[in-house]
Amino acid sequence: MGRDQGLYPARITRVIQETADTRTYVLDVPYPYRAGQFLTVKVCDTLRSYSMSSSPDTDAELMTTVKRVPGGLVSNWMHDHLRPGDVIETTRPTGLFCLRETPAPLLAFCGGSGVTPILSLVKTALATTARRVRVLAADRDADSVIFGPAMDELARRHPTRFEIRHHLDDRSGYVTEDQVREFVLGDRGADFYLCGPAPFMDLTERALLAHGADPARIFAERFAAPAAVVDSGDGSADAELDGTVSIVLSGKRHTVAQHANETLLESARRAGLAPPFSCEAGNCATCIAQITEGKARMRVNNALEEDEIADGWILTCQGEPVTPHVTVVYED
Ligand SMILES: Cc1cc2nc3c(=O)[nH]c(=O)nc-3n(C[C@H](O)[C@H](O)[C@H](O)COP(=O)(O)OP(=O)(O)OC[C@H]3O[C@@H](n4cnc5c(N)ncnc54)[C@H](O)[C@@H]3O)c2cc1C
Ligand code: FES
Repeated sequence: MGRDQGLYPARITRVIQETADTRTYVLDVPYPYRAGQFLTVKVCDTLRSYSMSSSPDTDAELMTTVKRVPGGLVSNWMHDHLRPGDVIETTRPTGLFCLRETPAPLLAFCGGSGVTPILSLVKTALATTARRVRVLAADRDADSVIFGPAMDELARRHPTRFEIRHHLDDRSGYVTEDQVREFVLGDRGADFYLCGPAPFMDLTERALLAHGADPARIFAERFAAPAAVVDSGDGSADAELDGTVSIVLSGKRHTVAQHANETLLESARRAGLAPPFSCEAGNCATCIAQITEGKARMRVNNALEEDEIADGWILTCQGEPVTPHVTVVYED
């Protein structure tokens, strides 16, 4: 058995306007979840993942928070159309961006809508552990700060254990590596949680590593896909190889020749199929399937646990065959 990737109805009970372009959707669903996890919604026939901003340890309701992305399909559709009483389809919560059992301090760096899972983690850490918690939250300007009052209230309630530091780009420019290092001073042994725009996360991770942080204690949740790989133009990217990929979707087998540097998801599309996917970056597991013959390796895996991989599960958007024949089966 794999994970449950099914879609289930979820009624929206409330919609909370957080900032001009960010709304929280309160969902009437009975699912258990862990702080820091996300669920995937299907609207406009498209799948998108959204993290919980609520904490299972402090909030009676499950909440996801969605920021409009300029030109984006799903985030804008949700803002423009969803009202209390509407029903949407969602997966059950999933995700690995969760707290470890450790007394180590928790240091979080978030930018923009990246505050969503961070708020969930912070609430749980403060409510269920004695850990010290510090957050550096970067935003464009004061009007863009999501959950400012919620974070400030937590700081008032936990004055000795919680610090929120707001960084506003319009006053201080983008966060620098020096500012990250200064924030971390004295807390090199912490667990670090990162969520925000890719350049912000890359800079933060670089600064933490340069400052001696243990890479195994840096946890990152990436919302966006990395920039597309540029074809070198020498034809190597799509060269046909001496092997095949068989894709089983809705019970039917389709076989295509292996192409160099092609993921299993891309092979499936080349076979004329339309299997599920969302982030195409190894973050959401929407594209999960099971390898039943041959082997494939993932370029990136931010979504599957070791035991799932051992059972043959793979993120098809990241899986590249390493044997001449591979069969990959999508669950119905
Ligand atoms: C694990 C995870 C958790 C997440 N949690 C959250 C969360 O809590 N809150 C949140 O707000 N988001 C979250 N996200 C991001 C979210 O899933 C969506 O990626 C985001 O809302 C954008 O989706 P969209 O459909 O609105 O935009 P898309 O339609 O996917 O567009 C994204 C960008 O691509 C551009 N674009 C689209 N099509 C084209 C094209 N043909 N050519 C050029 N450019 C194009 C758009 O202009 C836009 O800038 C999360 C993502 C992941 C993977
Ligand atoms: S589509 Fe998100 S992990 Fe593959």
